[in-house]
Amino acid sequence: MPLPELSPVLSEAEIKNRVSALARQISADYQDEPLVVIGVLKGAFVFMADLVRSLTIPVEIDFIKASSYGTSDTSSGEVRLSEALETDLKDRHVLIVEDILDTGQTIERLTASIARYRPRSIRVCVCIDKKERRKTDFEADYICFSVDKGFLVGYGLDYAEQYRYLPAIFALKNSTSEEAK
Ligand code: IMP
Ligand code: MG
Repeated sequence: MPLPELSPVLSEAEIKNRVSALARQISADYQDEPLVVIGVLKGAFVFMADLVRSLTIPVEIDFIKASSYGTSDTSSGEVRLSEALETDLKDRHVLIVEDILDTGQTIERLTASIARYRPRSIRVCVCIDKKERRKTDFEADYICFSVDKGFLVGYGLDYAEQYRYLPAIFALKNSTSEEAK
């Protein structure tokens, strides 16, 4: 199968500037309150690494794994979570870092799952807020970029496990994602 063509959406410089600004906002909001940052694997690994290095507050790091996609840009319709959290979240401030908020199903499942540990607060930070296919009223607390539509890859985001390593964000040309979900 030939790889689809890509068109540039967000450059490395745009991402860097916006991540720094968001990190300043998050640092100011939490100030000296201890914070646990939970990254959602695999997609958030690049964004999370940049974000935590731009924060000016100390944080603890943990990861949770979620998958809702098969090997294409069409949702499998179910969200699989695999939790191997090592951090005690009780009474802690938790910031979940996710790659893309799309239908909202993944993040709704995730926040409900994290809430069982009775943290002091839960907020959600997303690299991309894609509103077109939203099926829930979920709103992220921190949004790096908003886009209307398109299937995006790079900067941790994949299409069939390809392109995660790209340093900038691209859209798949001829994506079928408009009809998906
Ligand atoms: P949701 O449950 O529909 O909100 O889906 C969120 C998850 O779907 C994200 O964490 C991504 O893994 C994946 N996803 C949604 N849109 C895209 C995209 O444009 N590119 C890559 N992954 C996407
Ligand atoms: Mg994901």
